[in-house]
Amino acid sequence: MSSAGTRLVVTGANGGVGRNLLTHAAVTPGTQAVAVVRSDRAASTLAGVRGIDVRVVAGDDAAGLAAVMQGASSVVHLAGILIESREATYEQANVAATAAVVAACQRAGVPHLVLVSAIGADVHSPNRYRRSKAEGERVVERSGLHATIIRTPILLGPGSAGAAAIIRTAGSGRARLLGGGGYVMRPLDLDDLSRAILVACDRRLPGVHVHELAGPEPIAYRDLILRAATMMGRDVTLGAIPIWAARLGAALRSRLSGGGITPTVIDVITANEDVPHNADADLGITLTPLAETLAKILAGRPTT
Ligand SMILES: NC(=O)c1ccc[n+]([C@@H]2O[C@H](COP(=O)([O-])OP(=O)(O)OC[C@H]3O[C@@H](n4cnc5c(N)ncnc54)[C@H](OP(=O)(O)O)[C@@H]3O)[C@@H](O)[C@H]2O)c1
Repeated sequence: MSSAGTRLVVTGANGGVGRNLLTHAAVTPGTQAVAVVRSDRAASTLAGVRGIDVRVVAGDDAAGLAAVMQGASSVVHLAGILIESREATYEQANVAATAAVVAACQRAGVPHLVLVSAIGADVHSPNRYRRSKAEGERVVERSGLHATIIRTPILLGPGSAGAAAIIRTAGSGRARLLGGGGYVMRPLDLDDLSRAILVACDRRLPGVHVHELAGPEPIAYRDLILRAATMMGRDVTLGAIPIWAARLGAALRSRLSGGGITPTVIDVITANEDVPHNADADLGITLTPLAETLAKILAGRPTT
């Protein structure tokens, strides 16, 4: 890959994908990265990533974002949520924040935007999360910007939320999984996503390209837990929580707390991650085998 002269501006840079991408960018010759975060607290978490410039800008401050984006060869928009809270709704975090970034790219004349979206994004979906991801994509598609949209499944890397859940469950001895964990996932290695983003930023193809990038091996969540437990040298006995009961409990708890795990989130987590055409070849990357991804996340786990 020839990334000479690449200047990336990364939103949501303190998140799991952002931290991994910045680490890759730091060792890619000719690539300079600017990390955009929303708070000094978030900025302080990036202090250990070498060679990056960190800027604090509010997610809805299109003028402030445009100022940071001046001279960028690509903007990588990673900010977004699956779990809503009293402070953040899907409309605000997945749609309005994308609209602010698009407006800023237009104002700054940014030649290329990468949006990380989610498998299952669909404007007609009955699921609010999936609709919001599709609406964010639509804002990009209608912007006139050259863009690469990468829809991802569950992401696994040292410290990612998905990895933490697998390690916790596999090491627990006994756990109950939603619906027995029969839903099929396509876990994607965070390093593979970062590599794909950097290729897209290097190519900067004209037009809008939507890709679905999933891991190489479909696996039921239950089997993923059992495989991780075996690699950890642990036994785990798995049972089931009926999905209807989990949805009901989530509906009651989230109504009281104003966010957290809702029936919408449970429906996302327990859906099969279907990817009819995987974009690994289109994006010019070789996928990491699942066994290797699991070994990486287990190597990074805290010892108990
Ligand atoms: N992780 C996965 O398995 C997965 C799967 C599919 C799709 N995705 C998508 O991939 C993207 C990156 O995921 P991630 O795992 O890196 O997420 P993450 O670790 O949860 O980080 C989310 C980032 O978005 C920022 N953010 C949240 N709401 C925002 C708002 N309203 N305005 C501006 N920034 C906001 C957060 O900032 P603060 O820290 O300041 O809150 C944080 O920097 C997200 O769009 C996510 O939905 C992730």
